Amino acid sequence: MRNVAIIGTGFHVPERVVTNDDLAKMMDTSDDWIRERSGIRERHWIAPGQTGRELAAAAARMALDDAGVEPDNIDMVICATVSSDCAFPGNGVLLQQDLGLGLIAALDVRTQCTGFVYSVATASAFIKSGQADTVLVVGTEVQSTALDLSDEGRDMAVLFGDGAGAVVIQATDGESDVLNSALHSQGEYCDALWCEMPSCNITGRIDAEVMAQKRHHPHMNGRLVFKHAVRRFSEAINEVLTAGGVAKEDLTLVIPHQANLRITEAVAKRFELAPEQVFSNIHKYGNTTAASIPIALAEAVREGRLKRGDLMVLVAFGSGFTWGANLIRW
Ligand code: ACO
Repeated sequence: MRNVAIIGTGFHVPERVVTNDDLAKMMDTSDDWIRERSGIRERHWIAPGQTGRELAAAAARMALDDAGVEPDNIDMVICATVSSDCAFPGNGVLLQQDLGLGLIAALDVRTQCTGFVYSVATASAFIKSGQADTVLVVGTEVQSTALDLSDEGRDMAVLFGDGAGAVVIQATDGESDVLNSALHSQGEYCDALWCEMPSCNITGRIDAEVMAQKRHHPHMNGRLVFKHAVRRFSEAINEVLTAGGVAKEDLTLVIPHQANLRITEAVAKRFELAPEQVFSNIHKYGNTTAASIPIALAEAVREGRLKRGDLMVLVAFGSGFTWGANLIRW
């Protein structure tokens, strides 16, 4: 069995910064409310005309440069997103084109906020089974164009941002490895956090009535999501630590999906993790769904928070519900 190393990281966010005060001019909210409930101070949103594929390609190029890998050497691309530029195909093939990759496998993963964790597990399985040697994994998201910016949508609108993060994962004889992954789902809670429309259940996929009912915007039962998120984050971390025979004290870093600072703090408290063991950048970017973990990982590396051999957990929970974790020896 060969090992699997993350050999390069990258990220990209659009230039446009939207502060809490900016949002307070669009809807009935305040900097205090948003900070206290979520820890978010600002987020980046695309400007009109910008696309998700641009964010994804920029993050991917940074990761390829960091890895010192030429696009010709990539033999698979995995793209985690809930917000592809077109209804179909997904952004995976757009990346294949934009980066000038060969006629390789391009796979989109849509497990929402858990998309990057599922994608790392998938890349690792393809490499360990010998079906791929070098995989580009990208989490990319444009949420801003889906949000309801009226008072009615303020619970969701203040939380989300746009961005992309990427890693290059490669077979290695060295020590680095994706040691194990835990992946879960519970579809009974589909409508607790979802964007129902456009839908193939409607001829034409969307109509004026649906739009008047605002069913084309994302909706969430915030309190239910909060409760499940804290429980499932904790379970997923426990599961990969137990499977790997690793004690929580041995973890250099936990990189949680940046859903909400209060969720992260509740998990850290439950696990009695030291502040330096938990990475957070939600104050700058908000919740960028499938992009949040690879953006955080790229920043953690650049801040010197990880050195080779360190143990780390990536952990996520999101719409579906889906949740999971990867235990990684960096
Ligand atoms: N600004 C000001 N007031 C607001 C806003 C806002 N943006 N949004 C809601 N409110 C109001 C509500 O209307 C309500 O007013 P009322 O008391 O007059 O009815 C009041 O604030 C309290 O609303 P609650 O929904 O009860 O607020 P809560 O304390 O639960 O906080 C929040 C809401 C932040 C969404 C919380 O439920 C939460 O953190 N949930 C977790 C969900 C989450 O983080 N999701 C991220 C996406 S999912 C994921 O990535 C895993």
